[in-house]
Amino acid sequence: MDLLKVIRERKTLRAFKPDPIPREKIEEMIRLSIHAPSAINLQPWEFIVVTGEEKERLGRRLIKSYKEKQIACSPGNVKPLPKTYSKRGAKTLELMKPFFEEMGVNIDQYINEGSCNFYGAPVAILLCLDDSFPKARLVDIGIALGYLVLIAHEFGLGTCPIGLIIAYEDEIKDLLNIPENKNVVIGVALGYPDPDIPINRFKSQRDHLETFIRWIE
Ligand SMILES: Cc1cc2nc3c(=O)[nH]c(=O)nc-3n(C[C@H](O)[C@H](O)[C@H](O)COP(=O)(O)O)c2cc1C
Repeated sequence: MDLLKVIRERKTLRAFKPDPIPREKIEEMIRLSIHAPSAINLQPWEFIVVTGEEKERLGRRLIKSYKEKQIACSPGNVKPLPKTYSKRGAKTLELMKPFFEEMGVNIDQYINEGSCNFYGAPVAILLCLDDSFPKARLVDIGIALGYLVLIAHEFGLGTCPIGLIIAYEDEIKDLLNIPENKNVVIGVALGYPDPDIPINRFKSQRDHLETFIRWIE
């Protein structure tokens, strides 16, 4: 498939079929993702792939932690967001609403518990970064994530990046025996999209190009 088509088509999926994904296919996707550029070619990314009963156990543990701590999906900003950004978030949720209504589910519960359970995907990938790196290396992880979600689409698979679970990093590290010096940066749900679930028909919008560019000539 051509790259531009993949870029235009890719979107976040929030319902997956339980069908397992062959290990070789996951490996191939990660092999391609690590073609991503990184500063001084340090390749700081680490991928933890959780499948099968372990993935189910992880989902159950995260939902339990969510119910106890009630830390929900949010931009996690460090000071109040300028209106431009908060309006975009609110608009996205507003546009998602009819799909959740059609499903007859509570939007907060679906998104928060769904995120904790990787929306029923058979595979959870955790991208980790050694804590000896500075914050700047998060950029490298972000690029690898960008590659991964596009490659998954090309492979006929769907993804949802899951930032919420980072609020429960201690529990994840404990359950999966992730060493203390590794930071879990982002999770990704990976699976075959379930086309029958209405929220998977939702496609988010983007603001006009002019809102993002300032030319200095
Ligand atoms: C860093 C990051 C964290 C995200 N965390 C979550 C999450 O915890 N739960 C969720 O449902 N979606 C999450 N998303 C998906 C975004 O909501 C989604 O990318 C955004 O609404 C744009 O939609 P699109 O991916 O379909 O273009 C996350 C995306 C990114 C890049």
